[in-house]
Amino acid sequence: MAAGLQAVRGMNDVLPDEAAVWQRFEDTARNVFERYGYRNVRVPVVEATPLYVRSIGEHTDVVEREMYTFEDKLNGESLTLRPEATAGIVRAAIEHNLTYERPLRIWTGGPMFRHERPQKGRYRQFHQLDVEALGFPGPDVDAEQIAMLARLWLALGLSGISLMINSIGDAAERRAHRDALIAHFERHRDVLDENAKRRLHANPLRILDSKHPPLQDAIANAPRLLDQLGDASRAHFDGLRRLLDDARIAYTVNPRLVRGLDYYNRTVFEWVTDALGAQGTVAGGGRYDGLFEELGGRPTPACGFAIGVERMILLLDAQGKAQAAPLDGYVVHAGEKAGAVARQVAETLRDHGATIVVHAGGGSFKSQMKKADASGARLAIIVGDDEAAAGTVAIKHLREGGDQTAVPIADVVARFAALNTSRDEYASL
Ligand code: HAM
Repeated sequence: MAAGLQAVRGMNDVLPDEAAVWQRFEDTARNVFERYGYRNVRVPVVEATPLYVRSIGEHTDVVEREMYTFEDKLNGESLTLRPEATAGIVRAAIEHNLTYERPLRIWTGGPMFRHERPQKGRYRQFHQLDVEALGFPGPDVDAEQIAMLARLWLALGLSGISLMINSIGDAAERRAHRDALIAHFERHRDVLDENAKRRLHANPLRILDSKHPPLQDAIANAPRLLDQLGDASRAHFDGLRRLLDDARIAYTVNPRLVRGLDYYNRTVFEWVTDALGAQGTVAGGGRYDGLFEELGGRPTPACGFAIGVERMILLLDAQGKAQAAPLDGYVVHAGEKAGAVARQVAETLRDHGATIVVHAGGGSFKSQMKKADASGARLAIIVGDDEAAAGTVAIKHLREGGDQTAVPIADVVARFAALNTSRDEYASL
């Protein structure tokens, strides 16, 4: 291929076999979200850069080095390809006064862009399904969203995804915790390495990630934000735990769980699997009660999450749940009259919900049957001019062998369904 005409590094094509799995995943998710009353919205993939700086936070990895930011040459405005969906949704909700009369449950989906180092499960263009509840103080809606995800894993037949929850309190509680951390590590100055010393006042939370062996005791004993929550944050977290217990949803409280975006407060949660190596977080979210005000809106408590679609597809594949639904039938035909009957029979079967390909491009019966086989269809429907004249077609099972059966055209729907028994979706045929 000519140099420079390949896809951009970290941005992938989703080819038809894989796209079928994406669609099955997206259909299942949409169906689950809508059963909980979440409605679809669509927002642009490009927003003004300050939106992300203000919402995600100036000193996060995403804003500091991962955003695709460019100047709109026509008017000099700084624009950014969305690295996530929440900021755009909140912007739209403020702009259109969406929560003025009542709170709102919504979801969206599509590509997001982050200039990260590509590896399995981490890409520069990736896709999320993103769910937001705007105007709800929680914790009932926090638990609802977690339950919705538990239902989705079940509907997809997935296992081994575990839930971690934490509360990161409010801004004042985080400030107090930061001061406590600095004081704690000041008392252990003798074991700090150069890195930790440098971070001590700039970002003491990062010291908790250090692998420096002499530091490990001090890290283990460091004050935990979860132990320092004020009454309101504590009650919220206890409420969430009770609701999850009532719903029999298993979780681990992970006091170290923090998120990479600055807008969160109180509830944060992640669903993780160890089946995908380093990129094991398949969904993550939490509460962002201050974001509307930060972006110039009225105070509006809110909670949401996003699912990483590529990671879900990898997981479906790893757990053998990624088979695309096969074709029901492939119609082969030779002769002019046969072609007309073939197309008419195919339309009738489609009217009843079956997926049918009609052979295109001519060729002998033998070569058409080879194509029928290769298509993965369960059944071949064979129409020749003789059959057409007699008002019949032949149906042959391509997977289980056996003879072909002559079927009057008027009975095709019923006989096709009976022969195609392994598909329960078509029980109504
Ligand atoms: P996030 O944790 O940054 O949260 O991303 C959510 C999910 O998107 C991750 O758990 C992961 O599955 C997937 N993901 C993130 N980056 C990549 C990447 N480079 N390649 C592949 N997958 C990726 C958010 O984006 C928040 N907006 C979620 C949210 C909604 N919070 C409240 N409402």
